[in-house]
Amino acid sequence: MTYSLPTDIVGRPVTVIGAGTLGRRIAAVFASGGSPVRIVDSVAQQRDAAVAYVGEAAPGLAASIGREGQALGEVTAYEDAASSVPGAWLVIEAVPERLDIKTPLFGELDRLADAEAILATNSSSYASRLVIDEVSHVERVINMHFAMPPASMAVELMSDGHTDEAILPFLDDQLRGYGLLPFIAHRESTGFIFNRIWAAIKRESLDVVAQGVSTPEDVDAIMKANMGMHTGPFAAMDQVGLDVVLDIEEHYAAENPHLPEGPRTLLRSYVEAGKLGRKSGEGFYTY
Ligand SMILES: NC(=O)c1ccc[n+]([C@@H]2O[C@H](COP(=O)([O-])OP(=O)(O)OC[C@H]3O[C@@H](n4cnc5c(N)ncnc54)[C@H](O)[C@@H]3O)[C@@H](O)[C@H]2O)c1
Repeated sequence: MTYSLPTDIVGRPVTVIGAGTLGRRIAAVFASGGSPVRIVDSVAQQRDAAVAYVGEAAPGLAASIGREGQALGEVTAYEDAASSVPGAWLVIEAVPERLDIKTPLFGELDRLADAEAILATNSSSYASRLVIDEVSHVERVINMHFAMPPASMAVELMSDGHTDEAILPFLDDQLRGYGLLPFIAHRESTGFIFNRIWAAIKRESLDVVAQGVSTPEDVDAIMKANMGMHTGPFAAMDQVGLDVVLDIEEHYAAENPHLPEGPRTLLRSYVEAGKLGRKSGEGFYTY
């Protein structure tokens, strides 16, 4: 069947699956732009927290895109996808970073969604090509990777290898109406654009320290002095969690065996000592 773009998106709902850290922020973005938002989570506490978050964040977001005083989209929470997906023009998946959850979910979304609905994954590390094993209409699936709205309104778009060629320019245009800054990855790239470059900065910073050339404190200080960064790479890694940083680097290394081992060895020594960064009270810095 030939795919055609949704033509009546004004007032038509956007569905967000997963009401965690990112899902509730994505919901706030679309509500601030006036779209009704259906947010789905299997956990009641997450649903309640997400609706409360959208209520707090959406008015400020709307003001920041010049919609102050205009109607916000209504947010409704759902326990499962079945009643929340039909009718939506866009469905964004933001469930945990596990293919055993995402793959069957995309099969279900494909069966439930309207024919022209676009199905997007917010996954940070999986290309959308990897979530479509149970999808029949692969031409309407994409990566839509939000950075961290509202702090960063960047969103990266990437084809699953079969995505209809009209979808990326259509979203590039539509998403700007919600104050988002879309960037298109022109070919499949683990880490898209930004995370891939940031991974290289983290990796080289770790290698400089692993080789005894410098210290975390000095690397952070020189990066702030020369690049105008607010937070140096080591303080940023402590904030994310060194176990998470190690997982991300392992993922890149599995795809590219030429990456240096030093950064992972250094990270492992911290993780094995229970020094996970801010969340454990100690990482490269003590908190
Ligand atoms: N946290 C980040 O900084 C960040 C940034 C960009 C992208 N992402 C991506 O966003 C996705 C979500 O990450 P997060 O940090 O928001 O996770 P999270 O753990 O905060 O939230 C995930 C939510 O999904 C819910 N959930 C689990 N299975 C579900 C299902 N089958 N149906 C409905 N809800 C379900 C959970 O109850 C939870 O509330 C991941 O793919 C991650 O890679 C995260």
